[in-house]
Amino acid sequence: GYIVHGVKRRSSSFNTARIDHLYQDPHGEDVRFFLHYGDMTDATNLIRLIQETQPSEIYNLAAQSHVQVSFETPEYTANADGLGTLRLLEAIRILDMGRSVRFYQASTSELYGQVQETPQRETTPFYPRSPYAVAKVYGHWITVNYRESFGLFAVSGILFNHESPRRGREFVTRKISEGAARIKLGLDDTLALGSLDARRDWGYAPEYVDAMWRMLQRPDPADYVIGTGRQHSVRDFVRIAFQHVQLDPDDFVRVDPELVRPAEVDSLLADPTKAREELGWSARISFEDLVRTMVEADLEAQERASGRRRGGAGTR
Ligand code: GDD
Repeated sequence: GYIVHGVKRRSSSFNTARIDHLYQDPHGEDVRFFLHYGDMTDATNLIRLIQETQPSEIYNLAAQSHVQVSFETPEYTANADGLGTLRLLEAIRILDMGRSVRFYQASTSELYGQVQETPQRETTPFYPRSPYAVAKVYGHWITVNYRESFGLFAVSGILFNHESPRRGREFVTRKISEGAARIKLGLDDTLALGSLDARRDWGYAPEYVDAMWRMLQRPDPADYVIGTGRQHSVRDFVRIAFQHVQLDPDDFVRVDPELVRPAEVDSLLADPTKAREELGWSARISFEDLVRTMVEADLEAQERASGRRRGGAGTR
């Protein structure tokens, strides 16, 4: 029964590849998915969009979300990710929609940064390590503050890394899965990475979206950690990806110091107990299956694009 209003990010080129398969011509019959122009740095735009669409749930997934890029664009990141969250909350307040709308804020395991406790749970103190994470700390606390000050149904999901074949190529998991696929097909011969020792709690994105939705169906608003409770290194991801294409990563992967971050987040591990107990949610897919799913999707995409076949001419 949902009507979904999505917001295209401000950008001179439209960045809709990941939702093109959902797009419906707005002039057709029984259309339930609409896209609007949106800009997290423009309060007038956000107020008007919310007034026009009268949503019952708002999911704020908008952000400059790349940690490394935030060191290059710290002011824009603070504006879009930090103040952008404030603009949405203020829009709800200005429009007097506090009783009719539920608000989800995409918080992140990057809030824990240099971890103060392992594993990380809802009460673990934050120690952000990048302009991105500092902006997200603001987004997190302003959401809590508007809940406590104005009684909004506003919650933060503290999501650990979540991946799928739709992950952007600039993030490490997709970079590895696509790299392994291209090397297998003879389209590339090296894969340059930064820190191989960084450890993350990686889960499967579709399951995490279900967790977000569950948070907004609760009787009372609360914040939740969402993760698998298991940890792996970038090196582990590389190993399983290259195993899947039957190649030795030592022959292809090199470390590029340029890709190592000014301040690194070395180790993140979720304690998702509260989500299991209150949302009935837990991660299902294994790490190995996640890696294999991503590599397999990239093998198929690269085969389609290049006309090459794994195991055929041109492979190593
Ligand atoms: N991107 C990238 N590229 N990361 C690399 C590379 C590389 O070539 N080599 C090693 N890494 C390491 C990073 O230094 C980091 O420790 C780890 O791989 C994961 O990096 P990303 O995949 O870029 O993700 P992230 O953990 O920094 O942040 C992602 O997850 C957060 C938590 O959900 C982003 O999606 C954030 O927006 C999100 O908040």
